[in-house]
Amino acid sequence: MLSLWGLLGLCLDLLYLHQVDDQLMRFFERCRGYVEGVEKNRTALLEVEKFKHGKEMEAVRRRALNEDCPCVRPVDLVEAAFFLCSYELSIKSLHSPWCFLFDEDDAKVLEYKSDLKQYWKRSHGHVISGLSSCPLFHHVFRTLDKAGRPRRSVTSHPASILVGHAETLLPLLSLLGLYKDQTPPTADNYRTQHGRSFRSGLIVPYAANLLFVLYDCQRGPRLQLLINESPVRFPGLETEDAPLYRDVRATYRHLLDGCDFERECEGRPVGRGPNTEL
Ligand SMILES: *[C@@H]1O[C@H](CO)[C@@H](O)[C@H](O)[C@H]1NC(C)=O
Repeated sequence: MLSLWGLLGLCLDLLYLHQVDDQLMRFFERCRGYVEGVEKNRTALLEVEKFKHGKEMEAVRRRALNEDCPCVRPVDLVEAAFFLCSYELSIKSLHSPWCFLFDEDDAKVLEYKSDLKQYWKRSHGHVISGLSSCPLFHHVFRTLDKAGRPRRSVTSHPASILVGHAETLLPLLSLLGLYKDQTPPTADNYRTQHGRSFRSGLIVPYAANLLFVLYDCQRGPRLQLLINESPVRFPGLETEDAPLYRDVRATYRHLLDGCDFERECEGRPVGRGPNTEL
């Protein structure tokens, strides 16, 4: 016989059913177009490599390592020191001695290097990165569709929670058209990129989160987007904090009707009967 606490535990387990779904959350691993076109492609991150060996990084290295001799170029040492500095600062709130190696301008250069990497590896740099998240995109909108149905029963899920990493979040944010600056960041345009919106340190910091909130309103459901707890407006619907859900759907119509994982990732035609492949 179950004790009350046992029963309670059981109920909680039932209430908080969870499962691991890598198909949904680690879509990029299964997307051949992404794996071959970006992850395994040695030229996909060319801008990052160029910047790492460019004049801005070179200057940071020279200053940080007090390096007068041009014969020694420890390319990754400076980055390692910067990571130690930022980890100790963000995890332990410690002003780490490693940070003394850098001034603010150095930090900006190193921040740009990280942004370049995220941009070209997981974001707008390659369209396939965003497209690989099509299954997750569709999942989100299916969930919202269900939640927004009128006269929904009281037992319907009040919330759906998905947990993943930045590598899952960035492609989805890119697919939604967020943080897309007019000029892509490259190895050569550091000096004109100070005002960029693509700042990975702000978009995917520790505990990054993306929230879709559906409101039951008079003219129909409204949808608000929050990124790291701050309201963000949908591209193309910038006049409203929480536009009508149907307007959001209309904005993403092309993705709701298309954005097929098999076609985008495998280059296969679609609409020829069910896909029975494993
Ligand atoms: C590798 O990346 C480069 C630069 O983005 C691209 O032009 C090329 O088509 C990619 N190669 C493959 C095999 O996808």
